[in-house]
Amino acid sequence: MDDDDQIQLQKLEQRTNWDGWRIVKYQGFWCPLPFFRPVLSAQKYFKAKDSDIILSSLPKSGTTWLKALTFSIANRNIDTQSPLLTCNPHEVVPFLELNLYLNQENPDLEQTSTPRILATHIPFDSLPDSIPNSGCKIIYICRNPMDQFISFRHFSLDNKFGEKDRRAGPLELDEAFDMFCDGAHHYGPFCEHMIGYWNAHLKNPDKVLFLKYEDLKDDIALHVRKIAEFIGCPFSLEEEERGLVEEISRVCSFDNLKNLEVNKNGYYSVNGIVKNSSYFRKGEVGDWANHLNPAMAERMEKLIKSKLQGTGLTL
Ligand code: A3P
Repeated sequence: MDDDDQIQLQKLEQRTNWDGWRIVKYQGFWCPLPFFRPVLSAQKYFKAKDSDIILSSLPKSGTTWLKALTFSIANRNIDTQSPLLTCNPHEVVPFLELNLYLNQENPDLEQTSTPRILATHIPFDSLPDSIPNSGCKIIYICRNPMDQFISFRHFSLDNKFGEKDRRAGPLELDEAFDMFCDGAHHYGPFCEHMIGYWNAHLKNPDKVLFLKYEDLKDDIALHVRKIAEFIGCPFSLEEEERGLVEEISRVCSFDNLKNLEVNKNGYYSVNGIVKNSSYFRKGEVGDWANHLNPAMAERMEKLIKSKLQGTGLTL
């Protein structure tokens, strides 16, 4: 980080997330501190190409699934050659701020084969300028915030996130939920994150595809076709007839990916070591009901209703 970035950081509000990670409020969102400099670098240096496909989400909204699907749809390689059979989807589709710009301030991304499929958790309004301003495509996936919160809690505890910076144990579920409702969580506030991409989708639906995790669970084949059309490579009649849509859906399914050796026993490096298995926990809709009480759910429903009022977005 150069001196100007340091000075900027010192002026920003910081908090400690319930799991011990420091988060810093930058451009209206809570950026995890280790990714603050990489976010600045991506904003400064990333040059989107018209052929790029950018996958965006809040953590634990179905990013891994979307990466596997988009990669398979764009490359049509789901046979024994697919890298998804031996690599975690996060190794196949890197994040801007969690991987590429974390490791180097200005990495050379020119050699990456096209279309470049890249991911980010950065809110729409804070994306590097070249993303909204170029012809590249953005696919956003959102999820019921209560499922997303519970998913993140398991993921963070499973990987012992924040442990080295923490003096006491992680906050209890109710305190963590309070922080989440206040929007103080990784890349939060969650409603603003979704609304940013929702509005961008309404403004330019050819540029931003807006997906919901629950809809993919409901009808994956429909969404595989939708993603293919959106990125400009719809399935041909011949591909439809030989069942490619169903095959991509199967290869990228929770059960298939979860049971691959690499995802059972492998590790992934993202500012620390993460178990690949922690990206495949339950993969269900509505698991929040096993963890949050009715009062918490009511609070969340009211919050969502007030925040989304007038946007046209429903969760
Ligand atoms: P749960 O913790 O509720 O099981 P992300 O990929 O954004 O990190 O989100 C992880 C969540 O998506 C986890 O939710 C995980 O189980 C689920 N998930 C991962 N791969 C999936 C797949 N292929 N199909 C459906 N859900 C998947």
